[in-house]
Amino acid sequence: MSESTTTLYDLIGSDAGVHALVERFYQVMDEDTAFARIRHLHPADLAQSKEKLYLFLSGWMGGPPLYVEKYGHPMLRRRHMPFPIGSEERDQWMVCMTRALQDSPLTPDLRERLIAAFFNTADFMRNREEPGVPEPGFAPVTGTPASSGGRDPSRLDPQETP
Ligand code: HEM
Repeated sequence: MSESTTTLYDLIGSDAGVHALVERFYQVMDEDTAFARIRHLHPADLAQSKEKLYLFLSGWMGGPPLYVEKYGHPMLRRRHMPFPIGSEERDQWMVCMTRALQDSPLTPDLRERLIAAFFNTADFMRNREEPGVPEPGFAPVTGTPASSGGRDPSRLDPQETP
């Protein structure tokens, strides 16, 4: 019974859980003007943005690799290049996701690990030079919300995982 691998995808509530997370994430971004900066990087109609994030997160959390099946390798950093992303955009994105995760049915420990994993990925999206801020991937990843240092979900790297 305990032999089968339980994934984050299972824990968050499978397909419906990932959908709910994405809905909530974009609802937070859309409704709170504190996130206007990143909201304005997105199209007025968020339908496609939601769909793509849902497809991506399904595979990223260990569920069906829907994004890869439809669009091929995510190449997330490259796909974000048209959008200027610095620490401020990363942090806004993270607050939206952290708020969205508060409504998900995860234990506090798992939620912290997921937040750390999202932070790694969001930080990797930075593509704007900022004085005093090291380039992404250059500094060791420390000081993220969960300092678990675990290798598993927090090491999921969309550049590396199919
Ligand atoms: C760091 C701050 C981030 C900003 C400002 C940002 C912004 C954006 C924008 C503006 C788009 C285009 C939306 C569209 O075309 O409808 C996009 C696409 C996307 N983002 Fe992000 N994003 C960030 C981080 C992340 C992270 C951390 C992930 C994954 C965990 C992610 C996953 C995606 C995916 C899967 C797409 C669709 C890519 C495609 O197929 O075109 N993003 N993002």
